[in-house]
Amino acid sequence: MSVEPTTAAAMPTPDRPPAVEFRSVTKVYGAGTNRAATAIESVTFSIPDLPDHGEFSAFLGPSGCGKSTVLRLVAGLEPQHPPTSGEVLVLGKPVVGPGADRGMVFQDYTSFDNRTVLDNVVFGLECRGVPRKAREAEGRDWIERVGLDPVRDARKYPHELSGGMRQRVAIARTLVLRPRIILMDEPFGALDPATRLDMQDLLVKLWREVQATVLFVTHSVEEAVYLGDRVFVMATTPGRIAEDIPVPAPTRPARETQQEQWFHDTVNTIHERIERIEAEAQRRNGK
Ligand SMILES: Nc1ncnc2c1ncn2[C@@H]1O[C@H](COP(=O)(O)OP(=O)(O)OP(=O)(O)O)[C@@H](O)[C@H]1O
Ligand SMILES: [Mg+2]
Repeated sequence: MSVEPTTAAAMPTPDRPPAVEFRSVTKVYGAGTNRAATAIESVTFSIPDLPDHGEFSAFLGPSGCGKSTVLRLVAGLEPQHPPTSGEVLVLGKPVVGPGADRGMVFQDYTSFDNRTVLDNVVFGLECRGVPRKAREAEGRDWIERVGLDPVRDARKYPHELSGGMRQRVAIARTLVLRPRIILMDEPFGALDPATRLDMQDLLVKLWREVQATVLFVTHSVEEAVYLGDRVFVMATTPGRIAEDIPVPAPTRPARETQQEQWFHDTVNTIHERIERIEAEAQRRNGK
């Protein structure tokens, strides 16, 4: 199997612009002040909008390399948005702020504590003015699809749920709105290893159903290799994309894939690349 780095960004077709495109994007926090700090510099990449298959891109990299900055720029969230220079495009249009075409799942559980699971899941539909009966039917359907009980669990409040259950709610709340682009910032970082593998399998299943483009940030090389169609390895100081590595899409459950030789080889290759990138960055920065 090939894990050769590719440097050429996928070419957008005239009739189908890329799902997400960064054109030489730089973000300096506190620009123009004495606290100015460059988070990412000249980041360029293009994620194609493939027919009948949302591309799954995993972002790996050391703490502080700008992974969350990239995701939040796609989401159009301040203070990351707008970039200091360069262009962020979603489905061919410059990002001007948050929009219904993008949904975000954060690492920390972001449910409303005073709303039940069902009311959390249907919150976005409520904001869109979908009538109660229709939104609750849709909400229960998604609660079931993420592996929770549409009656018993639907009535619970967030404090009555485990971390894994809360992340299922967060995923349901995002997917019920059917975004074209799903942004996930270390969504499984706080989960125990077994729950994490279950969530990876769930995500693959749902991703196939909704065919959305996914940008997924993780610190786990294994998670990136299992879930991704491609892995962006980022480097720090300044934050940038160091490598863009195609990997096979998941075909079998996470636990089985992790036993396969090609999987071990790919994970090792990426670990070695990350070590090399970090050693080069340290040399350049005179450490
Ligand atoms: N709101 C902000 N104001 C000032 N600096 C910021 C802000 N957000 C991030 N930074 C800085 O930008 C750089 C990139 O941060 P970012 O959160 O994107 O990194 P990350 O790769 O997501 O890290 P982690 O893996 O720890 O989540 C860091 O040096 C950070 O200190
Ligand atoms: Mg982050």
